[in-house]
This record gives sequence, structure tokens and C-alpha cells, in this order.
Amino acid sequence: MSVRKTIATHPFGDQKPGTSGLRKKVRVFQQANYLENFVQSIFDATRPGNGGFAGKTLVVGGDGRFYNDEALQTIIKMAAANDFERVIAGRDGLLSTPAASCIIRKYRAFGGIILSASHNPGGPDADFGIKFNGANGGPASEELTAAIFAQSRRIEQYYIADSARVDLGRVGDRQLGGMQIEVIDPVADYAALMEQLFDFERIRELLTGGSFRLQFDAMNAITGPYAHDILEQTLGAPPGSVLRGQPLPDFGGEHPDPNPAHTPELQRLTSGRDAADFGAASDGDGDRNMILGANFYVTPSDSLALLAANATLAPGYRDGIAGVARSMPTSQAVDRVAKSLGIPCFETPTGWKFFGNLLDAGKITLCGEESFGTGSDHVREKDGLWAVLFWLNLLAVRGEPVADIVRRHWQQYGRDYYTRHDYEAVASDAAQSLVETLRGQLGALAGQRFGNHEIETADDFGYTDPVDGSQSRQQGLRILLRGGARIIYRLSGTGTEGATLRVYIEGHETDPARHNQDPQNALAELIDLSHRLARIEHFTGRGSPDVVT
Ligand code: G1P
Ligand code: ZN
Repeated sequence: MSVRKTIATHPFGDQKPGTSGLRKKVRVFQQANYLENFVQSIFDATRPGNGGFAGKTLVVGGDGRFYNDEALQTIIKMAAANDFERVIAGRDGLLSTPAASCIIRKYRAFGGIILSASHNPGGPDADFGIKFNGANGGPASEELTAAIFAQSRRIEQYYIADSARVDLGRVGDRQLGGMQIEVIDPVADYAALMEQLFDFERIRELLTGGSFRLQFDAMNAITGPYAHDILEQTLGAPPGSVLRGQPLPDFGGEHPDPNPAHTPELQRLTSGRDAADFGAASDGDGDRNMILGANFYVTPSDSLALLAANATLAPGYRDGIAGVARSMPTSQAVDRVAKSLGIPCFETPTGWKFFGNLLDAGKITLCGEESFGTGSDHVREKDGLWAVLFWLNLLAVRGEPVADIVRRHWQQYGRDYYTRHDYEAVASDAAQSLVETLRGQLGALAGQRFGNHEIETADDFGYTDPVDGSQSRQQGLRILLRGGARIIYRLSGTGTEGATLRVYIEGHETDPARHNQDPQNALAELIDLSHRLARIEHFTGRGSPDVVT
């Protein structure tokens, strides 16, 4: 029998969740009561009025990064002391973010606590994160996030069971006081869901046929076990198809961010004359994806458009898609597909939480972000391996190389050249002044000409949720040019150091003869304009971005 302890505490004041949960340095989370305060604030802000958490299930798990273990022990003991009936935990405390979403939905849980800082590095000096997902399996809404933050500012005590370490190393049931703990295989439920959505038979034929080669980079992060199980064991890709498949607490000292810069081995294996036919990678917690063909990179914005255009080739989407959504800075490639399919296309602020209501209401089936995130109504998170399987399904059915499929798509819809320039670890006040100064000038920009370009409108993006009417203001500065080109500025909400300025630049090209340029060249004039309009160097002291994707 465990004893419930009440511990007095004081608010920290800085527990405001960002784009995706509360993200801080591990050392910040290691301060006495820091994690406990936030977890209790989640419980206090979500506790049902009648009956509290009696009869309720909480799903817990994380990407396995440093501090995952210790934090999970604390959370489980706090769940017991807050009277949850049951906790479902992934074995060894592991659950990818999309698998957590799947399990919350499948077992009709009250919600889940996911431990992850996504693609941010892990280790004692790196990043940690925690977020709450509700009964639909999706990230807490803006309103709930605000309520959790408000609670964290007035918290006075938390509850925790006084008990020994809970063994999460074996699948099976345990008991902690009155609470049941069910330790589950982190992969099985997720794999079963994927099998319902995609044509595993055809993918198996493709992967075992002898001529098609796949390489998947799990980046020493959570998707290793999922990819070994699904791609190699179930679908027959030969051993060695999965690179860096063992999750490590510090991701091997690497940056588990699936973009060309952080996947050198994968780039090598998908380049040159002996290139693999298909390459992909996923991030720290398994929700992001990067898609490559032989000597070919598919932008996330194009990937979303391609999946929408080819959705009916996968059994789970055979009957067509209801609508699509993209985050505002994501390119307009998917809008063109939606238009030709005659389905609605929604433009939401950055962050997966904004897709939740649209998915729940059945208004959209597919959605995505330029930041390597794609997903559908099968869960309420973006989903890395899902995107990989969708592409494999598509390739198995169409039997053409990735590059040909994408080029054909551009011929039909035009190519949306796209790039994102990030200026990292900029002083917060300098970044703020840049944004505020530009915001103040937006009104005067309409009608101005710069070389070949004319600004049609400029605004600060605001969003009214079509389902519940909730409003989100100041979600990014948009410069919209005549002909459809755009330049967008916003500050990152996931960083843990200073500010990151993101500048998103895109332009549409209909002429197939001009579809084979490097985006940095194709967009050179707009890139130059993006510097001048916001006076980036003046405010940040940076003449060029730190990261270009
Ligand atoms: C970034 C991405 C955003 C994504 C989020 C969580 O947020 O830009 O699209 O939803 O990570 O993965 P940001 O740092 O830009 O606020
Ligand atoms: Zn992630």
C-alpha cells in the first residue's frame, strides 16, 4: 500500500508552454519541484468536476531521451496520488508521439502525458519537454494550455505516492496503491493501425522484389524499434535498411532532426549511381518525416500535396479525402490539389494543435506543416512512419521513381519553390524589435514595388477556428506578392535559448522548363527582398541564416 504525500511548493512563473508543450533545458527540469509543479498543474487544470480522475486512464511515455526515465517515475507516482484508476505506459517508458496519440484513442484514455523535446538534442546539458494530450489524442488546445500555465502560477502543493520505483522494463500489469499500471509493447497497437491504413501486401512485394532499395534513418531516436518491427520484420526490408535504429538517451550526441544537414549517411546512400530508391528519416519523438528519392529531395510541403493528390491509392483513404489543412507558412502546393479535387483547404497557425478541431469535426483528412510534419485523421499528431508507409504504398502502386512522380506533379500543378531561413539564438529583444518594427510597417507595404515584385497585401496572420470560434492573433507576418509568392516572418515557439527568427519564402513556377532549379537560385530575388524588408542584418547582426531548408 502506498502513502499519498502532499508536498508544499511555490510557482516558478516560467512554465508557459510553447508551440508544442513545455520545453526547457534538462537542468531546468531537474530543479526541485519543477517537473512536479507542471504535472500537478496539468492535473489541476484538467480534473473533471465530478468524480475527479476516478475511473480514468492516463497514457504515459516518451522519446527515451535523458531524464525520460526519472520523469516518468515521478509522473506515475503523481497519477496514483491524484487518484487515476489506471496508467498505460510504454515498455521502458518509450512511446513515439504518434503511437501515444494512437493508444490514447484506442483505449479511450482520459489523456496522455508525452515526454519529448522532439528534434531538439538530448542529454544532461540538452533539452527536455513535456506535453499533455487530451482524449482525442491531440495536443492540448490553446485554451487548455493557458489554463495549465495559469495554474502553474498559483500552485501551492502537489500530490505524490510514496513508493518504490515502478518496474517498466517488462510488459504486464502492476499495482501502485489503488492504481493499476499496464506496461505495454510500445509498437504493437501502432503497427496494427498502420496495417489497416496501408496495403502491406503490395509494399511487401515492392520491398522483397529484389530491385527496390529502402533506407530509413531512425537517428538514434524513438522510431528505431518501430521501423525494425514494421519495415524489416513485417514488410520484409532486409536487415540494414534501418540506420541508427537503437534509441539512445542523448541520440548519440546528434541532432535528431530529419533534414538533409543532420542525415549525412542517409544522404550518401541515396546519392550517386548506386543510390537507394527511397530514403526517409524521422525525428526524436517520431512525428516528423523527411522523404528522399534516388538523388532527389521532396520538400515537406510538396510531400503533403503529393499525398493529397494520390491519397486514394492507399486503402485507408480509398474513398477520398474530406479536406486538407496546412500551417500558414507551409507552401501553397496542397491548396492547388484541394482546388482541383474540389475539397476545402484550411490555413492554420503553426503547431499541430490547430488541426485537432478540424480533424475531430471531419472537415479534413490530411494535414501538414513545412517543418517535416504530415499526418491524417488516423491519430491527432503528425506521424513520421505513417508518411513513410504512405509513400511506400504510393510507390508500390505507381511503380515509378520518386523523382518522376514529383516532376509529373509539378507539370500538372506548377512547382512551388520553397525555402525556410532560420536565424538561431538571436537575442530575444533584437528579434522582438525586428518583428514589432515590421509589424508597424505592414500597412504601408501594399502596392509597393521591388524590382519584378509587387506587394499585394501584408498582414499579421490571425486565425478563427471554424469549429469552436476561438481566435489566435499575431501568428506570423505575411507579405503576399502579386502572382502568389509569399515571404513570412515568425519567431519560433519551441526553442530553449534566445529567439529563432524563421523566414519562409516561396514562389510559384508554372513553366516546366524552369522546374529544375535550385530553390535558392529560383527564389534569389525574394530572398534578397526578405532581408531588406525586415532589415534582418540591422536587427540581428546576421548577414545570412544559420540553417537553410
Ligand atoms: C516548430 C515548427 C512547427 C511545429 C513545431 C513542433 O515550431 O515550426 O511547425 O509544429 O516545431 O514540432 P516553432 O519552433 O517554429 O514554433
Ligand atoms: Zn517531433
